[in-house]
Amino acid sequence: MDIQTIAIIGAGTMGNGIAHTAARSGFKVILHDIAESFLDRAVSTIAKNLEREVAKGRITANDKNAVLSRISAVTQNSALSEADFVIEAVIEDIETKLRVFEGMDRIARPDVILASNTSSISITKIASKTKRPDKVIGMHFMNPVPVMPLVEVVRGIATSDETYQMTKELAESLGKTAVEVNDFPGFVSNRVLMPMINEAVYCVMEGVGTAEAIDSVMKLGMNHPMGPLALADLIGLDVCLDIMEVLHSGLGDSKYRPCPLLRKIVDAGHLGRKSGRGFYKY
Ligand SMILES: NC(=O)c1ccc[n+]([C@@H]2O[C@H](COP(=O)([O-])OP(=O)(O)OC[C@H]3O[C@@H](n4cnc5c(N)ncnc54)[C@H](O)[C@@H]3O)[C@@H](O)[C@H]2O)c1
Repeated sequence: MDIQTIAIIGAGTMGNGIAHTAARSGFKVILHDIAESFLDRAVSTIAKNLEREVAKGRITANDKNAVLSRISAVTQNSALSEADFVIEAVIEDIETKLRVFEGMDRIARPDVILASNTSSISITKIASKTKRPDKVIGMHFMNPVPVMPLVEVVRGIATSDETYQMTKELAESLGKTAVEVNDFPGFVSNRVLMPMINEAVYCVMEGVGTAEAIDSVMKLGMNHPMGPLALADLIGLDVCLDIMEVLHSGLGDSKYRPCPLLRKIVDAGHLGRKSGRGFYKY
């Protein structure tokens, strides 16, 4: 299938990054959210990020305008019927995702692939809510999308080879590298990353080292560009806790239990950068 128009459902952090990347790669984008205010914020974020690229001399002001002109922002579902490929990036809530996929299954043409940017929810389960489970796949972009080269392409139990191949090709035409993984809780990225972050939180709780010391060990000793606790603050401590819960319940192994200090900090409303305080103050 010739993909020209990509629908992106959810215009938050990830949705606006995916829209930016897709429009910048020449695709027409239909960006959908539940309220105009979310769309306005997304479009102005994309414009600001493109402006930065203009300032750095990577694109011209004309390019910026052309990219923006390829994005149409909509709240009505009917506009989504023109999509050749759908990427869902709504909040990480299973009921919301299942509703969105049931709806998209009705609206999108039967040949259209429905991809989810979920960080941890089962692609197999999402697919089971549609009449096209062979055409449902995970397309896990990393934040910030315009910058990060990886797309973890997640195959559900019913995902067909053809769907995988087309998704991989689309990721490549967005300038990304697709890495194939299978659908298990946390996929590969969060299965490996989150237990490391959780262990770093245990080190704080047990007084093994301060947050600064732990981050310095991992930066200077392991060549990580950011320490695990600074990274957790960037991701959002509530998001980290949610993903640990998914690993713990999905894999049923106590080694994935969330650190009690992580729960406590989230209960206090210290969610990291977005709330101004996490392991560090911002
Ligand atoms: N933020 C990250 O670092 C990151 C990284 C990789 C993957 N993800 C995944 O990407 C997805 C989106 O995350 P985010 O950080 O962009 O969230 P976000 O909260 O910034 O944005 C979610 C958007 O979805 C919209 N939305 C909610 N219900 C909707 C519906 N029914 N229809 C249309 N829009 C709806 C919200 O209004 C909001 O604008 C999640 O599944 C998350 O796990 C996030």
